[in-house]
Amino acid sequence: AKVAVLISGTGTNMAALLYAAKAADCPYEIILVASNAPDAPGLKLASAEGIPTWGLSHKGMKRDVFDALVDEQLRAAGTEFVALAGYMRILSDDFVARWQGRMLNIHPSLLPLYKGLDTHQRAIDAGDAFGGCSVHIVTPGVDDGPVLAQTPVAIAPGDTAESLAKRVQFAEHQLYPPTLAAFVMRERSPDYLLGRVRDLAM
Ligand code: GRF
Repeated sequence: AKVAVLISGTGTNMAALLYAAKAADCPYEIILVASNAPDAPGLKLASAEGIPTWGLSHKGMKRDVFDALVDEQLRAAGTEFVALAGYMRILSDDFVARWQGRMLNIHPSLLPLYKGLDTHQRAIDAGDAFGGCSVHIVTPGVDDGPVLAQTPVAIAPGDTAESLAKRVQFAEHQLYPPTLAAFVMRERSPDYLLGRVRDLAM
C-alpha cells in the first residue's frame, strides 16, 4: 500500500514508519513525505533515503488553498493512505473528507484525554498515573476519530513535560508502524472489502 506521510518538524515518527517499511513483510511503503515547513529536518532524512519529498510554507495562504496543493501532491504520487506524523496544521474539511477512512494520526496522549497541545503537562497537572500515545483514524474533529491503538506510559515522580515526552516518543515509534501496517492490511483484505460492498448494498 502506498503511504504518504505529512510532517511539520523533526519527523522521528516518519523515520520510524520509513525504517519499518524496509522489512520484507511490511505491507506498506512510503512514497512521499510532505511538509508545510520546507526546512523540516524530516524532509532531509526522507530524501537521503531516496523518498520523494515536497515542502511548501503555508504562510499567507488560505487553509483550503494550501490543503488543495497538498492533495494534488498526494494524488500525483499515487497515495492510497495518509499518515499524519507531527503535522501541526488543522486540516480543512474538504481534505479530511477526501481522505476519510484512509488517514491516520498519532497523538501524544491516551485519547480521548488531552486533545490538542501541551498533552504531557496537562497529564502531569491532573495527577494522572499514565500518559501515553494513540493512533486514530482522522475525522473532522481535531484529534477525534476512532482510536486504533494506544500505549500507556507511566508518569514517574518528578517527571516534567520534557522527560515524559521523551519516553512517550519511544512508545510512539513502537506503536505507529505496526498500527499502520495492520490498518492497511485490514482495509485491503477481501473480507473487509466484501463487507463494505454489502454495507453499501443494504
Ligand atoms: C509527536 O509527539 C506526535 O505525537 C505529535 O507531534 C510529535 C511529532 O514528533 N503530534 P516527530 O516530528 O515525529 O519527531
